[in-house]
Amino acid sequence: MSPLRIALLGFGTVGTSVVHRLTRTDAVRDLVLTGIFDRRADVKRLAHPALRGVAWTTRIEDVLVSDADVVVEAAGGLDPASGWIRDALLAGKSVVTANKQVIARDGEHLLRLAARQGRQLRFEAAIGGAMPIVRAVADGLAGDRLTRIVAILNGTTNAVLSRMDATRCSMDAAIRDAQSRGYAEQDPRLDLDGDDARAKLAILCGLAFGLRVTPTDIAARSAASVSLADVEGARRQGATIRQLAYASHDADTSTLTAWVSPVAVPRHSLFGRTTGPQNAALITGAHAGDIGVSGAGAGGDATAVAVISDLLAVARDRAAVVPPLALTTPKCIRGFGGIADFRVQISDCGFQISDSLFAEAV
Ligand code: HSE
Repeated sequence: MSPLRIALLGFGTVGTSVVHRLTRTDAVRDLVLTGIFDRRADVKRLAHPALRGVAWTTRIEDVLVSDADVVVEAAGGLDPASGWIRDALLAGKSVVTANKQVIARDGEHLLRLAARQGRQLRFEAAIGGAMPIVRAVADGLAGDRLTRIVAILNGTTNAVLSRMDATRCSMDAAIRDAQSRGYAEQDPRLDLDGDDARAKLAILCGLAFGLRVTPTDIAARSAASVSLADVEGARRQGATIRQLAYASHDADTSTLTAWVSPVAVPRHSLFGRTTGPQNAALITGAHAGDIGVSGAGAGGDATAVAVISDLLAVARDRAAVVPPLALTTPKCIRGFGGIADFRVQISDCGFQISDSLFAEAV
């Protein structure tokens, strides 16, 4: 079988790491980079003279008519990225994307389009960086009836909160550090306010519960106002503060409870021990109980691992069909359901989420 020909959209943090993996001496067998689209291709081409044999372009049309088998969308943002994915599928290419905003808004439609076209749309990189949560929920646990997901889904906010705790620095300093390491969105408020985690959680609600959820349906409290005094107050109580994403589904009443919020968690719990850009998730099924996954959740190299894994899945079986999501709209979506603001939790010196969520050994 000839190698899979890959065109990349977007030569930013994730795109650069993907290119490194595809072109260095230990390049991944069966995958070959043939094209790069970037608005600043003319400048970036000069900065990367070693990428011989790669067609650089500033015109998306060049990618669509190229002989690439797969388009990797690493440009980010909703539009025009969503239209590029649609056009690539219509042009007969499979697509691998890291774009949570697009999958959260248009994933249902784009997956149907991909299946109609006999092509694949894969998006492991959209959630959790190298943490394989999309496969865990969509494939590995498909045999269970999933009822709850509790997770750290934003590496930037986790890096910021854990750095404040570890170094007693201000939030601004911690944000600058996360930005310099390539974790943060262009606008880091999307990380701290919970928009990024809401998009990821909305996708997971589709995969885990078969529910159509819009990110803005999910209640959110921002982590932007967490102060060093809050972090130190939590520490005195044996706790630390983490941005958690929570979703539970009551299938009998078609009720979804979903929120993203800073939460005080015990320091030695799974979530308390998740530091830096790590993500972690506890997925609960009616039959298997709690299943945990964790790992590097943000950053170019971690996200590129998920992209390469998806490319290898396409290379292994080019005729595979990624099943379209069969979604229903929940009858009722509830917000915090009695979960208090973390400051109330700390002043109460109690942790309001069931202790089983904080099991030490996962
Ligand atoms: N800004 C995102 C995060 C990038 O920090 O998790 C990975 O999706």
